Amino acid sequence: MSTQTGKMGAGRFFKEQRTKLVYPDHPLNGLTVLITGANTGVGLEAARHVARLNAANLIIAVRSTTKGEAAKEDIRKSCPQSTTNISIYTVDYCSFASVKAFAEKITKEIPKLDIVILNAGLSASEWRVTADGWEEVLQVNVLSTTYLALLLLPKIRESYNKAADLMPALVVVTSDTHYFTSFKQRKAISEDLGILTAMNDRKTSDNFDKYPASKLLEVYIIRQLAKWVDQNMQGEVVVNCVNPGLCHSELNRETGIKYYALEFMKRFIARTSEVGSRNYLWAATAGRAAHGQYVGSCEVQKPAILVTSEEGQRLAVKVYQEVGQVLTKADGSLSQYFE
Ligand SMILES: NC(=O)c1ccc[n+]([C@@H]2O[C@H](COP(=O)([O-])OP(=O)(O)OC[C@H]3O[C@@H](n4cnc5c(N)ncnc54)[C@H](OP(=O)(O)O)[C@@H]3O)[C@@H](O)[C@H]2O)c1
Repeated sequence: MSTQTGKMGAGRFFKEQRTKLVYPDHPLNGLTVLITGANTGVGLEAARHVARLNAANLIIAVRSTTKGEAAKEDIRKSCPQSTTNISIYTVDYCSFASVKAFAEKITKEIPKLDIVILNAGLSASEWRVTADGWEEVLQVNVLSTTYLALLLLPKIRESYNKAADLMPALVVVTSDTHYFTSFKQRKAISEDLGILTAMNDRKTSDNFDKYPASKLLEVYIIRQLAKWVDQNMQGEVVVNCVNPGLCHSELNRETGIKYYALEFMKRFIARTSEVGSRNYLWAATAGRAAHGQYVGSCEVQKPAILVTSEEGQRLAVKVYQEVGQVLTKADGSLSQYFE
């Protein structure tokens, strides 16, 4: 099985799903780890690993405090020996204002951030538009994820210490579905804000493709952001994206008719959320070797050809620039990332 072809055929997919993944054992003593969407699914299992590995602080970032409290209780019960201090913060990716308020609170109240795992994500077939005017999957998976990454990056960088054995890390959770997207909106590359406008238009969006396309955009953005970090932060933060693989979780709750097909397939080949979450810990602790990379099955893998090809490279620049246009309009303080 080659994971370096940029292609994901059925053979590779099934084989990878069955690959044994290394159990996380990198000590996290003294570190502060923040995970979004950590109340359920893969994010919750990643949080459990963090507590088991005795990080100093674990920040569970969730939409609902009640769900956050339940997750904390669940982690405490399963890791009774853990000395990790667990705190709960709220954030709703459907609102730029909420993302901004959350980032400000974290920056003010948390002395340091060593690892940030932006895991919150949505797969929804229904067409819904947020109060900010964006199709919900696009805003949650792409715009708000990027916004939060950029707002927290300076704080993460503050944790850089040349002598430390672990580099601070920003991990964004993407998906192997990025290999399968048709991403038809890429044809709007020559228009101003063409790609995001096409993705945000019910007539040119594609219900079946909007989730995989959003995950492709995350890969583009992370590759561009990693270059920015090298040029402007002396590479002092590891930035990468990670795929947990097909896992049992609540992700399909809003996928409409695809739900039954996916749930049926998952019965035979899905990883547990715990197994999928091992990838997050691997990506967060792999250091420079994983910087700017796509991580899957606890290794650096080649992303889709639509990422590495010449067309992909042009698209990455354009998508990053378009996202920059949207985000700097929402928050002028971000302009440094897009100059
Ligand atoms: N499971 C898979 O097979 C698979 C495969 C590849 C990639 N992924 C990726 O893995 C990540 C985790 O997914 P999962 O499978 O664990 O799904 P999940 O069980 O549905 O968990 C998703 C998490 O994201 C949170 N979330 C959704 N919308 C949000 C919003 N507007 N603001 C803040 N938080 C929000 C959810 O909060 P609520 O509980 O409040 O809704 C939940 O905590 C996602 O990025 C997903 O795309 C999953």
